[in-house]
Amino acid sequence: MRGISTSLDMAKNKIIVAIDVATKKEALDLVEQLRGDISCFKVGLQLYTAEGPEIVRAIRATGANVFLDLKLHDIPNTVAKAVESAAKLGAQMLTIHLCGGSEMIRAAVSAKPRELSLLGVTVLTSADEQTLRQVGIPDKIENHALRLAKLGVEGGIDGLVASPHELKMLRQQFGTKIKLAVPGIRPSWSEAGDQKRVMTPHEALDAGADYLVIGRPIIADPRPSEAVNKILSGLEG
Ligand code: C5P
Repeated sequence: MRGISTSLDMAKNKIIVAIDVATKKEALDLVEQLRGDISCFKVGLQLYTAEGPEIVRAIRATGANVFLDLKLHDIPNTVAKAVESAAKLGAQMLTIHLCGGSEMIRAAVSAKPRELSLLGVTVLTSADEQTLRQVGIPDKIENHALRLAKLGVEGGIDGLVASPHELKMLRQQFGTKIKLAVPGIRPSWSEAGDQKRVMTPHEALDAGADYLVIGRPIIADPRPSEAVNKILSGLEG
C-alpha cells in the first residue's frame, strides 16, 4: 500500500501544470481545483503579461511553487536584473532562452540565488526543421538542441526545457546532474494542437524526464482534476 502511495506522490511531484489562461481569477480557480494533486504551477507569458508579478505572489500564497516561464532573452545585464526580480518574487523555477549565448547565460546564472532553479530552453517544441531554416539554421533539430544544451550546462544552468524526443540524448550527454523539464506532453486521449514533437506522460518519464509540463490536456478539459487523475493513474506502476 505504502509503495503505491509513494509512487503516486512521486508522479504528482513530476507534473507541472501550465496555467496558460488570461486572468488571475481563472488561474487561481485552477490552482484551487488542482492543489491537492499538483504542487507546482507554470506561469507563462500570457498570464504574466495580463496580471503581472501579483499572480506569482498570489499562487505562492496558496503554498504552491511557481515555475515562471518568461523565456528571458535579452542583453546580459537586462537578463541578470530580471533573474534577480524573479527571485525576489519567490519563483522556484525560471526559464531563459539558451540561444541568447554564453555571456547572457553566465550573467543569468551569476544573478540567481541557490533556491531559484534556472532552466534553459533549447528548441521550442512547436518548432520543426522548417522553422530552423526560416531563422537561418541549416542543422538538424537534435544537433541544434544539443549545441544549445551544452552551452547552457557549461554556463552553469540547473536544468533544460527540451522536447521529449531529445530526452534520451540529453540524459546520455549530461547524466543526472541536469534536471529535464519536458513540454509537448500529450496523453493518448488528448489532441496534439500546435505541438509537433509530442510524447505521452509515461513515455516521457521512461525516457528520463524529471518534470512533465502539461497545459491544455489539463486546463482545457472541462474537469481539470479528472484529467490530472487520468494522467496519474496512467503513470502508476
Ligand atoms: O498546452 P501545452 O501542454 O502544449 O503547454 C505546454 C507549455 O509549455 C506551454 O506553456 C508552452 O509555452 C511551454 N513550452 C513549450 N515548449 C518549450 C518550452 C515551453 O511548449 N520548448
